[in-house]
Amino acid sequence: MDYSASDKYASFFTKEYLMGPNCFRLADELLQSAPISGRVLDLGCGTGLTSRFVAAETGAEVIAVDLWCDPTDNQRRFAEAGLGDQMLAIRLDASGGLPFGDHAFDAIVSVDAYHYFACNDSYFANHLLPLLRPGGTVLIAVPGLKKEWADGPSSLMLDWAGESDSATFHSTEWWDKTITGQDIAQKRIWEAECNRMAWQEWFATGHEYGLNDQTFFDAGLDSVMTLICICVTKKS
Ligand SMILES: C[S@@+](CC[C@H](N)C(=O)[O-])C[C@H]1O[C@@H](n2cnc3c(N)ncnc32)[C@H](O)[C@@H]1O
Repeated sequence: MDYSASDKYASFFTKEYLMGPNCFRLADELLQSAPISGRVLDLGCGTGLTSRFVAAETGAEVIAVDLWCDPTDNQRRFAEAGLGDQMLAIRLDASGGLPFGDHAFDAIVSVDAYHYFACNDSYFANHLLPLLRPGGTVLIAVPGLKKEWADGPSSLMLDWAGESDSATFHSTEWWDKTITGQDIAQKRIWEAECNRMAWQEWFATGHEYGLNDQTFFDAGLDSVMTLICICVTKKS
């Protein structure tokens, strides 16, 4: 895969910016699976790196929502990037649904966030698909498993992520059964081609969480964890 679009953002591949496996690589891979434009919701945008990537690379208007990160800081960063007029930062908790009307968005993007609040079989159909205009696209990337556990998470996994976060990591097959809805026209779920690159670039930042992740990956989680991409098109 050609990652020249995300290569342009290499100055952000540092511990001051990244919050996990390189979100630019994941956003790049997702955007190459389906072109998007118009009004885009970035769900769980963090410090707005993916929002900025989507706005700059597609020309879309981006509504950047997040729970933990301050929207005033995000809006300032968007303005400093010369994208302020194209982007709106909002703080909200997505777990109970979203305060937008039906068909509000042409596309919804979520990188390394969806598993925190939507790891169940009703969220997608009840809370996400209605927000999308007919023919619109959802692009999601989450950390996940190469294969479901036969007898629950290993002790290494539990030591790394704890019980509740471990329960949010699943395989492509699990996500395929979980992302459902009558209005889905097309669905594609795959292990990210950028998996290894995105984790390695996160470790290389030297962020204390990245270094901790690297220790556990080296101890065996490398062969268990992956990054999962999901692309859904809504019926026209
Ligand atoms: C690992 S960070 C990823 C941020 C960003 N997408 C990126 O890749 O750089 C996960 C993000 O999910 C957001 N998040 C977690 N639970 C959420 C919720 N209930 N509603 C909205 N955002 C949530 C957090 O605020 C956090 O910024």
